[in-house]
Amino acid sequence: MRQAGRYMPEYRALRARYSMLETIHAPELAAEITMQPVAAFDIDAAIIFSDILPPLAGMGLHLEFVKGVGPRIDSPIRSLAQIESLATPQMADVMAGTLEAIRMVKRELATKELPLIGFAGAPFTLASYAIEGGGSKNHAHAKRLMYSDPDGWDALMSKLCVVITDYLLEQASAGVDALQLFDSWAGAVGRLDYERYVRPYTSRVLEAVAGSGLPVISFSTGTSGYLASVAQAGGDVVGVDFRLPLDAAWDQVGFDRAIMGNLDPVLLQAPWETLKAGSEDVLNRAGGRPGHIFNLGHGILPETPTDNVRRLVDFVHERTAVARSL
Ligand code: CP3
Repeated sequence: MRQAGRYMPEYRALRARYSMLETIHAPELAAEITMQPVAAFDIDAAIIFSDILPPLAGMGLHLEFVKGVGPRIDSPIRSLAQIESLATPQMADVMAGTLEAIRMVKRELATKELPLIGFAGAPFTLASYAIEGGGSKNHAHAKRLMYSDPDGWDALMSKLCVVITDYLLEQASAGVDALQLFDSWAGAVGRLDYERYVRPYTSRVLEAVAGSGLPVISFSTGTSGYLASVAQAGGDVVGVDFRLPLDAAWDQVGFDRAIMGNLDPVLLQAPWETLKAGSEDVLNRAGGRPGHIFNLGHGILPETPTDNVRRLVDFVHERTAVARSL
């Protein structure tokens, strides 16, 4: 989950010395940060340290991470000419540091038998950043392009599909064990617009990477109103946010598919008994069915006490020990 490291003192210490983009592109640093939560907690998988946005820089956009503000793109896309001038370079070059970090982490994880997750942003979420220039409340610029220039929209989304697919397949070749596609802003559009302007491109990526043979997690937020539609986009696992109780979400996704989620990350800042009850509720709603991956429903917040993370991980393991040993 994004911002994963920010609640960890060891991450903050490293980031005090290097910028976000420096840590992402230097393989040794990215590998070290990836291993920090593995060393601190008894987690069942690692996720490679990077971000969803650096591939956009390779396409010709100017990306920065501004302290206290977040990701920012100067001169965001506002014209067809800009869409036409976007490059679709090889991710083996643009993201060489991340791919090398994956190879380094895989060597370290081999002794622990822990899987490593690779990831990319989904076309809509990346398009929104590229057009809005940063986070956005109502995605008005992005939607304006979507509604007023369907050909321009298709051209942009198609270029993003090429880059995202290439990047995920490169991560597969570098050795990750699973792939996750983050469509963080998918919930910004209604179901019909999702099906018309968003899902076809998400599906294009998910279908193309299915050939890697790796399990693929399709994650979105704000999509509780049309999770069945989101599930139809593809993916082996559907990652859900915390807005629906897990059983209601799984019912929409379909019990023949795996699900990942969905504790509210802010519960990690609640008293232990409340956090414990919330986690127990997620597990009870999973009902011991196979195919549930316990996770948060969205990114962990910087204010999160590490002790609560440790307690939660251990509690989930205790509660599921019998099922896991079968
Ligand atoms: O969890 C991990 O360590 C894996 C690496 C990861 C990061 N970002 C590192 C990061 C992953 C998987 C992401 C995904 C990501 N990035 C998403 C999709 C998931 C989601 O949360 O919806 C999105 C939308 C982004 C874009 C992004 N990057 C945002 C909105 C922010 C936070 C801005 C802020 O300062 O509040 C980032 C920064 C970011 N990405 C950090 C990390 C560790 C924090 C950087 C720092 O301050 O050190």
